[in-house]
Amino acid sequence: SSMEALSLSLSLPPPVILTQDELKKIAAYKAAEFVESGMVLGLGTGSTAKHAVDRIGELLRQGKLNNIIGIPTSKQTQEQATSLGIPLSDLDSHPTIDLAIDGADEVDPHLNLVKGRAGSLLREKMVEGACKKFVCIVDESKLVKHLGGSGLALPIEVVPFCWKFNAGKLRNLFQDSGCVAKLRNECKGRPFVTDNGNYIVELYLKREIGDLQVAGDAILRIAGVVEHGMFLDMATTVIVAGELGITIKNK
Ligand code: 5RP
Repeated sequence: SSMEALSLSLSLPPPVILTQDELKKIAAYKAAEFVESGMVLGLGTGSTAKHAVDRIGELLRQGKLNNIIGIPTSKQTQEQATSLGIPLSDLDSHPTIDLAIDGADEVDPHLNLVKGRAGSLLREKMVEGACKKFVCIVDESKLVKHLGGSGLALPIEVVPFCWKFNAGKLRNLFQDSGCVAKLRNECKGRPFVTDNGNYIVELYLKREIGDLQVAGDAILRIAGVVEHGMFLDMATTVIVAGELGITIKNK
């Protein structure tokens, strides 16, 4: 009867809806399980990676991990890791990294990524390009069919010198997709400056990028472009946290 149905529904616990930040934390904590004592670790940047760094600091403090060396991908992560007592070094001293953990803005079905909304794409690409394993951690909202199709910007680090000239060149590369190129934070009066003293041009594409490798190479051929935010064929594992649980995708 309807009364029975009502009492049944009243006795069920309310559904648990996790926030995006809680999902980020779930993915980050799962990735921390991949960390072993003695590892050289690439430490990512952004709100998801921050949870992973927090967790690594906690495991060190609890004595569950030891002999870790962190290679931070930004000044921000460097400060966070230092405050947690994680010993740090750099790529000059440790050209090979065992494992890097970092977030992403977009993840496609082949585990290609767009990164850089936190602005640290250059150091991230250097560190993650030097690691044996790169575990990318995301909540399910980051999954896309094609990179560049989510309406978010593709970030490109450029030297400050004549950035408008280069923004024009970048826009021309993607002309067929009705591309708009903007300087990050230009509207706030002062452009965003990366840890390397550069600017970020954000490319808003009207449709997905075709051949990612070809597009990436064309971007890098522009003198004054330092790096772009497509991380092609770099992630070895992606951990996705969603309302229904954790999915681990391996390459
Ligand atoms: C920083 C990045 C970040 O990993 C990416 O922007 C995701 O950020 P968040 O974890 O805050 O969603 O690439 O350059």
